[in-house]
Amino acid sequence: MCGIVGYMGKREVFPILVKGLKRLEYRGYDSAGVAMIDQSMNLQIFKKKGKVVEMEATAGNYDPNSFLGIGHTRWATHGEPNDVNSHPHKSNSGNLAIIHNGIIENYGTIKAALSSKGFTFQSDTDTEVLINLIEDVKNNTEVSLFDAVRISLNQVVGAYAICVIDKNDPDTIVVAKKGSPLVIGVGEDEYFIASDASPFIEYTKRALYLEDEEVALLQRGENVVLKNIKNEIIRPYIQELALSLEAIEKGGYDYFMLKEIHEQPKSIQDTLRGRLLANEGTIQLGGFVEYEQTFLNAKRIIIVACGTSWHAGLVAEYLFEDLARIPVEVEYASEFRYRNPVINEGDIVIAISQSGETADTLSAIKLAKSKGATIFGVCNVVGSSIARFADAGAYTHAGPEIGVASTKAFTAQVAILSLIALSLGKKKGTINQAEFHQLITELDAIPSKIEQALNCNDKIIAISEMYKDATNCLYLGRGYSYPVALEGALKLKEISYIHAEGYPAAEMKHGPIALIDENMPIVIVATLNGHHEKVVSNIQEVKARKGQIIAIINEGDEEIKQIADHYIEVPQVDERFSPLITTIPLQLLSYHIALLRGCNVDQPRNLAKSVTVE
Ligand code: AGP
Repeated sequence: MCGIVGYMGKREVFPILVKGLKRLEYRGYDSAGVAMIDQSMNLQIFKKKGKVVEMEATAGNYDPNSFLGIGHTRWATHGEPNDVNSHPHKSNSGNLAIIHNGIIENYGTIKAALSSKGFTFQSDTDTEVLINLIEDVKNNTEVSLFDAVRISLNQVVGAYAICVIDKNDPDTIVVAKKGSPLVIGVGEDEYFIASDASPFIEYTKRALYLEDEEVALLQRGENVVLKNIKNEIIRPYIQELALSLEAIEKGGYDYFMLKEIHEQPKSIQDTLRGRLLANEGTIQLGGFVEYEQTFLNAKRIIIVACGTSWHAGLVAEYLFEDLARIPVEVEYASEFRYRNPVINEGDIVIAISQSGETADTLSAIKLAKSKGATIFGVCNVVGSSIARFADAGAYTHAGPEIGVASTKAFTAQVAILSLIALSLGKKKGTINQAEFHQLITELDAIPSKIEQALNCNDKIIAISEMYKDATNCLYLGRGYSYPVALEGALKLKEISYIHAEGYPAAEMKHGPIALIDENMPIVIVATLNGHHEKVVSNIQEVKARKGQIIAIINEGDEEIKQIADHYIEVPQVDERFSPLITTIPLQLLSYHIALLRGCNVDQPRNLAKSVTVE
């Protein structure tokens, strides 16, 4: 996700844009830029890789007599973070400029059509394609900028929040929205545009939130004209905002972690967008396709990662072996790099890393590459060190994850790895067409199932109040729920500072059961298709020793409801995808217990978001 801002009115535009972009840097920070039109109808663009402050430093000679402009702080999805790919982008004529938050899925098709008409492109972005589509429509149909944007968006598949300006019309900004946020601040003879209200809340509290497929015309001295892309006039609803600045940045949530937990339906949707084509029954994973044969030829797959990303790798081990019958080893990167591992030419090494900067993981893949392995990266930060070092990769499109405790990145990693496992299984014939279609249909429905799972929040709060003072906690799971148990324990440890351990449920009798007494809460993940009867036995073993059971169960599991001290129901999904659902209550449990213990949920003690040291 990126941050967009715009302004038209009586104030000098540059300071407004820069200050607004700094407010939105939590949405993306790999490059920034502004475009302004001065009174002589010159279009000035300053843009640069890096933070807003670095772009600001390059704009020393901006024209203070500019009162209309747009700005962007980028979270790269298409095209590396660099000066050329940063926004704003100009059309071929140099007259139009655009900023964009979102993903144009069919940009390749549009780009090819425009290229055949002689359009050229400076960047690798989908956004530059869009502004040239708008220019093409405007030139060939001689319509207003407003209509050219609207007509163009009827050809677009994907998500967008855009601002478009024309240097020949310094009193107009056209904006449009679908799938990405855009709000207009309506001041006295001035308009503000932003991804959320934080850039303009100090100037006006009157806000117009665009709905999907709406296009707005903002003209100096005129009221907003609002249409949908079908050209139907819509009555603008301008509301009075009551939010504080800080609350807006966190989307109304108290902490970024809670916001990111609740973003997971969308972050999974964004990660699957354009890649899982359930209606067509296909998977199109760009960075993977050219290495698919390498994967198919591999005698084994080694996964290297740390922390939560290592847990995603463990889920992947179950998925790859279950669906594609390819041997997988999951290694802590820090151990792998020092134990003189056996690495063969044909090996594939998958590096999983949210930040793409974890030193141990980067060193592990450097070692693997030096011994001839092929490196595949699964990262969330475009252009990060691990992503750039890998031979190939697939980005999770989870958007910036600000909370130190990883949540939406974990589920996005599992989603990407599920796509790879499904693709390999289909290609190898280890899953038949019917199974493949059933599984991609199930995966496609995961965002809505996560939405349902989030409804357990109130029950989690009640349980958190009972166990917030625990000193130890065991997390148990079998099969696909075992990595979930490990991840749940890590979440509790790192933000509430309660000692917690994850274990395969069957392992309890090999030692940990000695820990169990009436003071020990046991969180057990018990899905109906996850060795259910064995897990019921484990619960009985715990109960016999007065342990307190908190069970994560599927809706309708009457058997465990009878025996658990507390239970949280989540929707049932295909067992292979159950980690995407069962992890949700465990994320919320750690969040609420940490909150009740007065811990700093977003910045837990001793931790950093990215561990770039060994
Ligand atoms: C997870 O909540 C922790 N913040 C930590 O374990 C993290 O997953 C680990 O440091 C790996 O980070 P990465 O995914 O950026 O490589």
